[in-house]
Amino acid sequence: MNTPAIDLDLFKVFAPYRKQAEFLTATARNRYFVGGRGAGKSWTLTLDALMQALLNPGVPGALLGRTERDLRSNLLPFLRAHLDTLQRATGFNWIRRYSNADQSIELQNGATIWWRGYERIDKLRGHNLAWCCADEICWSETTDVTVFETITSAIRVPCRRPGFSVASSPNGLRGITKLFHLRTTGGDPNYWITRATSYDNPYLEPHVIEAWRSAMSDRRWRQECLAIALRPSSVVFSEFSETRHVVPWNVERHRNTCRWVFGIDWGLNRAVAVAFQVLQDGRWILVDELVDRPESRGHWRTNLRRWIDQTTRNQAPYLLAPDRACPEENRFLHSVYGVRKTRVVPLSSKYEQYVRNGLAAMQDMLAPVEGAPRLLFSDKLPRQYDGDLQGILPSLLNYRYKLDRDGVPTDRPSKDNVHDHAIDAARMAIVAGLRWPDLHAGMLPNRITRGPDGVFANQREGTYSRAHF
Ligand SMILES: Nc1ncnc2c1ncn2[C@@H]1O[C@H](COP(=O)(O)OP(=O)(O)OP(=O)(O)O)[C@@H](O)[C@H]1O
Ligand SMILES: [Mg+2]
Repeated sequence: MNTPAIDLDLFKVFAPYRKQAEFLTATARNRYFVGGRGAGKSWTLTLDALMQALLNPGVPGALLGRTERDLRSNLLPFLRAHLDTLQRATGFNWIRRYSNADQSIELQNGATIWWRGYERIDKLRGHNLAWCCADEICWSETTDVTVFETITSAIRVPCRRPGFSVASSPNGLRGITKLFHLRTTGGDPNYWITRATSYDNPYLEPHVIEAWRSAMSDRRWRQECLAIALRPSSVVFSEFSETRHVVPWNVERHRNTCRWVFGIDWGLNRAVAVAFQVLQDGRWILVDELVDRPESRGHWRTNLRRWIDQTTRNQAPYLLAPDRACPEENRFLHSVYGVRKTRVVPLSSKYEQYVRNGLAAMQDMLAPVEGAPRLLFSDKLPRQYDGDLQGILPSLLNYRYKLDRDGVPTDRPSKDNVHDHAIDAARMAIVAGLRWPDLHAGMLPNRITRGPDGVFANQREGTYSRAHF
């Protein structure tokens, strides 16, 4: 079958904004659209995939997303919308075959677009490709350099415009972000970077960006919205400082007006629980902790219950957030505190268990872009414990990211079994607490973090999340 010759004014038909157009038309073999949240990365990358398929008839290419679920809910709808736009502009249906089973779209010009999640990147090993487009590569569970190396070696089908293009918000100056940075600053013509902030996208309403800004830590704001790749730090809580976050605290003064929230990390022989007084203005003060090496489950239950009741003077806590790994222990908490109207919320969904998001929520409260910290620590907390299990203050200082083979910090925290338990306990309380406006001065915190499968947990999140105040 003959396909019509294509003479298309890309800019007129699709109307990319200036930075998107610059990226789409760059001639380097390896192109990187480093963009802020909502900057239009996925829109651009799917258009790039379509352009590649139109320019390279008869040969296959690949569109990669964080997961297949992310592809179905995010990237493929964009790609189909671009195909519709193309059909309206040309009066011609470009799709010859669309197959969910094969995860591919074949166009009338014989070009094929395969789509895959990074979790199945191995399936592309040994394939021959003409081009590849990869979305959010810095946030995939597979290391970005592994993806890059696997794919670039598969791009070997001769064609008019071979190439590898990436769209991602940066996750530190490491991995392929660092590689592209070094190559472009070194003047290598095979590499190209276009950088766009969230503000660059004229289709994103400014109040959406302002809502993100008010909910994010300064570091995260600069990285995820202004798309500045920061040098990674090996310390997880680099925004924590004794002078700013450790405050003289009088528990009694707030006893009648605060809500009590507890985070509990049940360990086999290491267990930590932390107690927060949450004030009506939305500040969380970690006022006490139980750091224990229990001899048995029975001992720990007894100690925990005694400590909670002493801390609150028998007031019913507002929220208990235990680790769901121990259903039996959680049933025990339910039986004791559930009847007193305490919410017992083991972190159940995989979003909440996603450690990276939990840590980001803590960082956001420690160092918001605007205003004073919302997460503070009492100066009565111990600075050090004997032995190899530590409380929250030493843990905040010592909790580290794992290093990669070059000694560069990754974004995965290292579980040293000394400093991770107190952090886990605090993180669980904070993540569970994100559900209640009561715990945040009457407004639900804006969550703009994605789950491990690249999909937002609910419609209040993501690009179209609205401010709740
Ligand atoms: N050139 C454009 N024309 C029309 N709409 C656009 C354009 N670019 C982006 N958009 C719209 O802006 C919104 C955000 O785009 P997109 O989802 O691609 O951003 P993103 O950077 O991938 O966001 P996220 O960080 O959430 O992954 C989408 O609704 C998209 O349709
Ligand atoms: Mg996107």
